[in-house]
Amino acid sequence: MDKMDYFLEIYGALPRAGPGSNECTKRAFGLMKDIPESPRILDIGCGPGVQTVELLKLSGGKVLALDFLPLMIERTKSNAEIAKVSKRLEVLQQDMNQMAFPPNSFDVIWSEGAIYNLGFENGLRKIKNFVKPGGYVAVSEAVWLKPNPPDSLVDFWKQYPEIDNVDNKLAVIDSLDYQQVEHFVLPDDTWIAEYYAPMEDLIARKEKEWSAIPEAMEVLKEAVNEIEFFRKYSSYYGYVFFVMRYPDA
Ligand SMILES: C[S@@+](CC[C@H](N)C(=O)[O-])C[C@H]1O[C@@H](n2cnc3c(N)ncnc32)[C@H](O)[C@@H]1O
Repeated sequence: MDKMDYFLEIYGALPRAGPGSNECTKRAFGLMKDIPESPRILDIGCGPGVQTVELLKLSGGKVLALDFLPLMIERTKSNAEIAKVSKRLEVLQQDMNQMAFPPNSFDVIWSEGAIYNLGFENGLRKIKNFVKPGGYVAVSEAVWLKPNPPDSLVDFWKQYPEIDNVDNKLAVIDSLDYQQVEHFVLPDDTWIAEYYAPMEDLIARKEKEWSAIPEAMEVLKEAVNEIEFFRKYSSYYGYVFFVMRYPDA
């Protein structure tokens, strides 16, 4: 096993693969007015599919869940089966960089905690090729919530150089000719309940088992570090849900 395998044993086993909650998915979806009765939705970077299932329940439409990891596709399918909504689920195991759908394919395009893999601006530009005019886009993205973060925190976030403040993210949305609908900060408990709390339990279980495997211990150390940064500095950063509309021509 290499470091990625150990990484997936932690991050791939959590209820969600990032901060979020059904309440936030519902709030963002509720901002989308005048969508068809059975919308066609693309969920980019679906992870274990918690928000995919919620979208299937909320929309009554079809959701195409895309992720490049087979593990995540399997977990999404299984979660949809458990929730008895799998008939309306389609899945696609694909690198999001390779997405190539015909124009006007989707009424709604969704991405919770995953658009950063394309880059915020690049991703929103790409999505414009597939969303219908008058359709909606909702993405959650890491942002600075207040100025002057401590140096150690800035260093930590260097792994994601596109982190920026909300105004600059909104300026990107405007520059791509989307209409802003609304944005809101994900509450701190959305980082904990289905993400950091189960992660801490898993770390505690794996510490002994992996104690003689340096690359596995490195994964655990990085996870502990990430949680410590959150505990100390979550007032400086967070995830913001941005909901926007691609205007009718
Ligand atoms: C932080 S997780 C968020 C998952 C899920 N939306 C959630 O909130 O629980 C990011 C997801 O994007 C997927 N991903 C990362 N890079 C990708 C890529 N290039 N193409 C497709 N999926 C990717 C990962 O496998 C992971 O499931």
